[in-house]
Formats: sequence, structure tokens, C-alpha cells
Amino acid sequence: MRRDHWGSRLGFIMAAAGSAVGLGNIWKFPYMAGGHGGSAFLILYLAFVLGFGLALVIAELVLGRMSGRNPVGAFRVMAGGAWPLVGGIGVLTAVLILSFYCVVAGWTIAYLFYAIEGALDATSAGTLESLFNQLTGSGLAPLCYAAAFMAISVVIVSRGVGSGIERASKLFMPLLFVVLVVMTARAVTLPGAGAGIAFLLKPDLSAIDGETVSAALGQAFFSLSLGLGGLVTYGSYMRASAHIGRDALAVVLLDTLVAMLAGLLIIPAMFAAGMTPGAGGAGTTFKVLPAVFAALPGGHWIAIGFFALLTLAALTSSVSLLEPIVAWLGDEHDIARGRAAPLAGLACMVLAVPVSLSFGVWEHVRIMGYSIFGLLDFLTNNLSLPFGSLMTAIVVGWIIGPRAVAALGPDGRPVGAWAQAWLFVVRFVAPIGIVWILIQGLV
Ligand code: PFF
Repeated sequence: MRRDHWGSRLGFIMAAAGSAVGLGNIWKFPYMAGGHGGSAFLILYLAFVLGFGLALVIAELVLGRMSGRNPVGAFRVMAGGAWPLVGGIGVLTAVLILSFYCVVAGWTIAYLFYAIEGALDATSAGTLESLFNQLTGSGLAPLCYAAAFMAISVVIVSRGVGSGIERASKLFMPLLFVVLVVMTARAVTLPGAGAGIAFLLKPDLSAIDGETVSAALGQAFFSLSLGLGGLVTYGSYMRASAHIGRDALAVVLLDTLVAMLAGLLIIPAMFAAGMTPGAGGAGTTFKVLPAVFAALPGGHWIAIGFFALLTLAALTSSVSLLEPIVAWLGDEHDIARGRAAPLAGLACMVLAVPVSLSFGVWEHVRIMGYSIFGLLDFLTNNLSLPFGSLMTAIVVGWIIGPRAVAALGPDGRPVGAWAQAWLFVVRFVAPIGIVWILIQGLV
């Protein structure tokens, strides 16, 4: 079977940035930072993104382009032995993440409808809290929204790499960025927002402990779409002429910028609304944003635009979670895209049922002290993404080694001295750092 390719350099960057920028930036980052000491979390997060996140994005992409395969096939072709198992864990991780990703994306769609109806206009903190609880607490409605979201993702992935994923990302990403800048500018000037800005930006390392360190590492990987082979798969569609390092840098910078903007939007808005950071949990973004819309001229329309664009940003990420599963089913099991995509979507939806209920009627169910959502989040964020990244670093750094350096540039041309620094990070800094943090998180 001939492999699909990205149509252009911009197309690839937009698709990869579309994968990175998503609910992780706008829904997850603010409440994670809020719950883990604000600036302490941010500093660790930035250190991980720049310290080895970028190097690992390059590593996944080069593993994908060299092998031209899905995660399982990539590890088989490039490393052999038991290594394909790592790719398999990656594919499974994609299923687990999608099972909660579609639930949260479903809330986004619900909020789009609320915005259209005017239910978000000028409401008090109490009303917004109950609006969120009412949505997540009703058994069927959030599942229908999640299913609708999944169905759209499946349709995009069924259409293939160029016409589906790439086209959608190129259009929506820039729009989201503009709306986000406008909203953040308003949020930081709300009365009372100053304390929130200080909480996020004024360095205070006292909140750093093992848990914060591993949460920040997991968040960095989640946000960069690292550790499950999503970028291996996207790399497998890269042309020989693409400059992997330069493109990866653009993706990482865009992702970090959007996370910073979202943090500076949500956290100051929380302070302005008198909320304690970290108290809102997974619902934070949804409970806080309407106050910002209300403070903007034309807030009603901005709310509509924002939730529409957030849904689209979630879509360009969810397709990148579906894609490794579909590529695996296609490459390894000869199941055509048109059948593989709905199959994968269905599997994730089955798991989405208990996840969604864990925000409502099953709220009190506890497994090892975690809610069902909390457990999936912990397993993927704190364990399997760091594990997958560690294994990728070992394969690319030690098994492929200098051959990977030679494969970074366009059409095999040398890329300059930074490539040696990159190899050093992939060989030493990333593995040692990840192992150390994994241990911190467990003890
Ligand atoms: N990076 C996405 C986000 O921040 O929303 C989530 C994600 C997509 C994680 C793809 C992992 C992945 F492979």
C-alpha cells in the first residue's frame, strides 16, 4: 500500500501543532497549574518542554519518517525483538486517552449550545457551577455529545491524511489563536486578576514536590502529544524533503505559547471571580470562562466563537489520537481506513461510558483511591506517556543512534552542530531525567 504524505510543509506544521494544541492546553493545563502551586508547576513544565520535550518530538518524528510505519511497526522495523510491545502500549494509551478526551470535548460542544442559547451570559459563579454539575451529572446527555464528537473525528480520519486532517488544521488553528489572544488580554485586566498573574508568573518554588514534578512532566508530554506514537505516525507521513528539527521547533513553540495564553486567561479569571486555584478540578475552564465572556463587549458572540474553535482544536487532537490506532490496524492487520476508524472510535466510546459517569452518578466510585477518570488520567499522564517517551529515547538514541542524526535533515543533508546536542539529550538527559521523575512520582 502506498503511504500518504502531507501536502506541504505548512500542512504538516499545522497538523502537528493541531495535534499538540488542544484540550490539554486550554482545559487541562490551567487546572493542573492551579492545583500544583501555579508558578512552580509552570517552571517545571517549561523546563521539561524545552529540556527534553523538543528533543523527544524530533525523536518521534524521525522514528516515524525513517520507518514509514505506525508505532508498532516502527519499533519492529527499527529495533526488533520485544520492542514492538512499546508501540502496542502506545496504541492502547491512545485508546485510553481518547476515552476521556471525547467526554471533555463533548462538554465543549454542550457549552457551544449553551453559548448560542445565551445560558452563559452574565451568570453568577454559583449558577455556572450548577450548570456544569447539571451537565456532567445527567447520565445520557454528555455521552451523546461525546459520541457526536467521536463521530466527527472518525469521519475526518476516514478521509485520510491530506484531505481530512491537514485541511481542517490549516483553517482552524490560526482562528483559535486570535480569539485566545483577545480573551487573555481581557482576562488579565479584570479587577482582581493581578493576584492570579502573580500566582502563575512570580517564581515560587516552595510547592515543588515529587507529585508536582511528575504531574508537570506528564502534562508536558500530554500537551506535546508525546509518548504514545502519535508523532511517530505523523512523522511517517513526512516527506524526505522536510526539515524535522525546524518543523518540530515551530510546533513546540506554538504549543507552549497557547498553554501560556490559556493559563493567563483562566487563572487570573479565577482570582477575579474569587475562586481558589485548584478548587475547580476538571471543570475549572468551563466554570470560569463565562465570567470573561461577560466582561467583553460582544461577549455572547465571543463565547460562541470560542467554544466552536475549542471544539475544532479538540478535533485536530483527537484525530491524532485516532490516527496511530488506525495506522496500526491498517499496516499490521490490513484493515482499511474506512473500517478501522469507526472500529477504533467505537472501542473508545465503550470506555467513555464509565468515564463520563464518573463525573456524575459514579462520582463516588473509587479504584486505588482514584475516580475512574482520575485513574485513566494518572495511568496515562504519569506512567505510560513517560514510559513511552523513555523507550523512544532509548531506541532513537542508542539503537538507531548516529543514523538518526543523519536522517534529520531534508533529503539526508547534514543539519548542523545542534544535531549532536540533540543526540546527547536523547541519549542521556531525557532517559535519566524521566527515570528520576518516574521514581519521584512513585515514592
Ligand atoms: N496534545 C493534545 C492536547 O494537548 O490536547 C492531546 C494529545 C493528542 C495527547 C495526541 C497525545 C496524543 F498523541
